Amino acid sequence: MEKIIVHGGQPLQGTLRVQGSKNASLPILAACVLADGVCEIENCPDLSDVRAAVRILQHLGCTVSRRDNHLTVDSRRVSCYNIPDTLMHEMRSSIVFLGSVLARTGKATLCAPGGCEIGRRPIDLHLQSLRALGAEIREENATLTCETPRGLCGARITLRFPSVGATENVLLAAATARGDTVLHNAAREPEIEDLVAFLNACGAKIETTGAGTLLIHGVQRLHGCRHRVIPDRIAALSYMAAVGAAGGDVVLQDVQTKHILSVNRVFLQAGCRLETDAHTLRITSSGRLRSVRDIRTLPHPGFPTDAQAAVMAMLCTADGTSVIEETIFENRFHHVHALRRMGAQIRISDRKAIIHGVSRLHGAAVTAVDLRAGAALIIAALGAAGTSVIGGLHHIDRGYEKIEACLQTLGAQIERSADSGRQQSKQNQPVRRLPIR
Ligand code: UD1
Repeated sequence: MEKIIVHGGQPLQGTLRVQGSKNASLPILAACVLADGVCEIENCPDLSDVRAAVRILQHLGCTVSRRDNHLTVDSRRVSCYNIPDTLMHEMRSSIVFLGSVLARTGKATLCAPGGCEIGRRPIDLHLQSLRALGAEIREENATLTCETPRGLCGARITLRFPSVGATENVLLAAATARGDTVLHNAAREPEIEDLVAFLNACGAKIETTGAGTLLIHGVQRLHGCRHRVIPDRIAALSYMAAVGAAGGDVVLQDVQTKHILSVNRVFLQAGCRLETDAHTLRITSSGRLRSVRDIRTLPHPGFPTDAQAAVMAMLCTADGTSVIEETIFENRFHHVHALRRMGAQIRISDRKAIIHGVSRLHGAAVTAVDLRAGAALIIAALGAAGTSVIGGLHHIDRGYEKIEACLQTLGAQIERSADSGRQQSKQNQPVRRLPIR
């Protein structure tokens, strides 16, 4: 098992170009199934989740090739409508293929995604919405069998909660449905905007008619297109939190600053300095931060749940008591255990984390238990005294492209190494400083 080894306490300096967005790439890859043509997707990060989506596309009959971060997807020969459980389980967002496969082939058979580390992940909103569009869906032994005997037909749908995944499935299913669909209380995340931009470039007719309403005029067919995926706002925020925790002066390039306004407020309150223009952000931090008491995760444009763990790691050494409330997922504080191992003083009360800032964290051997929790451990380790050994890298590799190389360019003392076995037996124990290879 590979590990990441971090020798903390080194301020970060330099310039980093932020990767393309994982959460935008995955629904866009699912949308390729709808396009009866060739799609050229630029700025698509090379991540394990993206590779899992590519395997699903290939299973469905698409030809996919990658040159650096440019993917070419030819979906003219989509022939298959079932996705095997093994492929569905490789990636949590695989449910987004339901809408596109159903719309393209008139059928879809796949397993319902199970729960995961961050909490239950129900799909009732996805299924209700697809049923409203005319899908007949049977759920038997965790398998979903979906058909559209009369084709998909436009409808008025109001989501009980602005679910990102359900909004994506409605967009995919309604883009080529007969007639118009109006989706109220749709998610407004930037990744939804990017999916709409991609679908419109393929010939769809989708309008955003004000806060949280999408108007989808069904068209007969979609064609291929060329599209550049938006920058990854969560990766950008993670690198910002790393600078906040370790101190330093870093310029992030290829950031859509309008996508991260709610989080910028937190960084400013914590005492970081930010200079931004439309696509670049400079963050400066002394490494001595102030606490922030009123962080609450919310749907966009609120503070994103995906930034919660990274910002918590940063605030572990802030002066005073910070409070973060997680309202999106019921079980997204798994990183707290490992942060405590590093000396953090965090108390959980229901959905709130109360973080009493300590002057310094110390290195430890810890394990990532989900994607964003893993990034949080690296952030904490960068600011900590001594060496940390972080396992569970398969979680981190789902969403961060070459995270150790990116941080090395900023001067971090971080490396990826094969596990010695001895390190594994000392999981979650403080470790001595290891030599850097
Ligand atoms: C969510 C996040 C997204 C993040 C992703 C991965 C929000 C609104 N969504 O997207 O920003 O990138 O996780 O961390 O922040 N729900 C239902 N029924 C459904 C679907 C969802 O009850 O059919 C509930 C979920 O239990 C959860 C909430 O809605 O409490 C958010 O779900 P949703 O936005 O659908 O989750 P993701 O698409 O995974």
